[in-house]
Amino acid sequence: MGTATLIIDGKSYELPTFVGSEGERAIDISKLREKTGYITYDPGLGNTGMCKSAITYIDGDAGILRYRGIPIEQFAEHPNFIEVAWLLIFGRLPTKDELARFSERLTQNAPLHEAMRHHFEGFPVNAPPMAVVSAMISTLSCFHYHLFNDDSQFEELAARLISKVRTIAAYAYKRSIGRPYIYPDPRLRYCANLLHMMFSMPYDQYIVDPDIEDALNLVFILHADHEQNCSTTAVRVVGSSRANLFASCAAGVCALWGPLHGGANVEVMEMLEKIHQGGLTPEKYIELAKDKSSPVRLMGFGHRVYKNYDPRAKMLKAACDRVFAKLKRRDPLLDIARKLEELALKDSYFIERKLYPNVDFYSGILFRAIGIPTEMFTVMFAIGRLPGWIAQWKEQHDEANAKIVRPRQIYTGETQHDYVPFEQRRAPSA
Ligand code: SDX
Repeated sequence: MGTATLIIDGKSYELPTFVGSEGERAIDISKLREKTGYITYDPGLGNTGMCKSAITYIDGDAGILRYRGIPIEQFAEHPNFIEVAWLLIFGRLPTKDELARFSERLTQNAPLHEAMRHHFEGFPVNAPPMAVVSAMISTLSCFHYHLFNDDSQFEELAARLISKVRTIAAYAYKRSIGRPYIYPDPRLRYCANLLHMMFSMPYDQYIVDPDIEDALNLVFILHADHEQNCSTTAVRVVGSSRANLFASCAAGVCALWGPLHGGANVEVMEMLEKIHQGGLTPEKYIELAKDKSSPVRLMGFGHRVYKNYDPRAKMLKAACDRVFAKLKRRDPLLDIARKLEELALKDSYFIERKLYPNVDFYSGILFRAIGIPTEMFTVMFAIGRLPGWIAQWKEQHDEANAKIVRPRQIYTGETQHDYVPFEQRRAPSA
């Protein structure tokens, strides 16, 4: 613990400082307004810590990402998304028995309540899948609310949400293509069951290639948590009012939907398709992305925290190569993505701004290789991120003196003036 001295209007104020376990330094301003009458102003909160957390560590300059202290690269050899989900939520790697118990809970909880299946019929076939997933996670609250106030049941609650979000996603997809819902198969593991429910037909079982199953486990692991990103912050904000876990995660889905956040993986594919169709060359696209008068951005590039290559993008790029080698095919969009990356990484505009590929730049190409349609990419991101949201919600929920999130503002509106009766009002001059 140390102190920072703030001098305002000639008066000195001592503010406490502290350092996190990886050397991140902070000035504690929780008493600033009380002491000085001032608040801080930090649009986008890029300089503001909203919590202390022990879940995920990112070093944006060095391109480091660790889950509960374990570098993500170490999950690549034997990717097991559910093992990582348990690690994030409960703070350590599970024993074999704990993992077996958690996996069994997921298997038992994969089906939806039959009444929920009919809800899907109420959505138009072209409903955005993220709208369906968010709505159906909220709907789950109606069927499992009895678990919300019993912390001893948290593993069961987390398992139900993680398992059922997969079934919800698969049913949303089947609804969108007018094909029959497929029940989860208790013999299949998490990722294989998702692909089974998405791609099987009653008369034709989809058989998962083990390498594809590994690739999907890895993709979900790489999306599983990312400290206080936009959607995780949404989950914490909603959870800070003591709203239940399901309602908080439904809010996370809505925040993730945005094209600047999880929606970027769809935007990346649309960008690559546009170039592939011959509309623009990679060189031309890069020029447009640099042109401030153009709304074009190099989607999948840039990051609020990473000012180096996003380690997840590196791993996803390698996974693309492995999957295409296994499938014995190439994807022209991967070649275009590589060309865009090559051009950007030697262009001063991107170098000066430290803009590198982020998690969304290659994830869509991998999803496409697995057979997942573009409109489901952000839903896949949500499935991957769910354990992180649950872990972050739990960390806040377990904090004894957690406060409801209620930031201040600087008011810039009208100063006081009187009400004007209709007959005295004049239309504003054009
Ligand atoms: C995710 O926060 C997380 O952790 C998110 C995430 C997670 O796992 O949860 O990592 C997942 O959301 C990844 C990001 C996905 N989004 C995109 O790929 C969309 C394209 N990228 C950007 O729009 C942008 O880079 C952001 C939103 C990701 C970050 O924006 P910042 O930190 O607010 O940076 P900025 O917009 O202030 O940009 C700084 C400069 C600006 O130029 P100048 O005003 O300095 O001249 O860089 C430029 C920007 O115009 N810039 C880009 C760019 N990204 C930033 N220019 C062209 N193409 C881009 N992609």
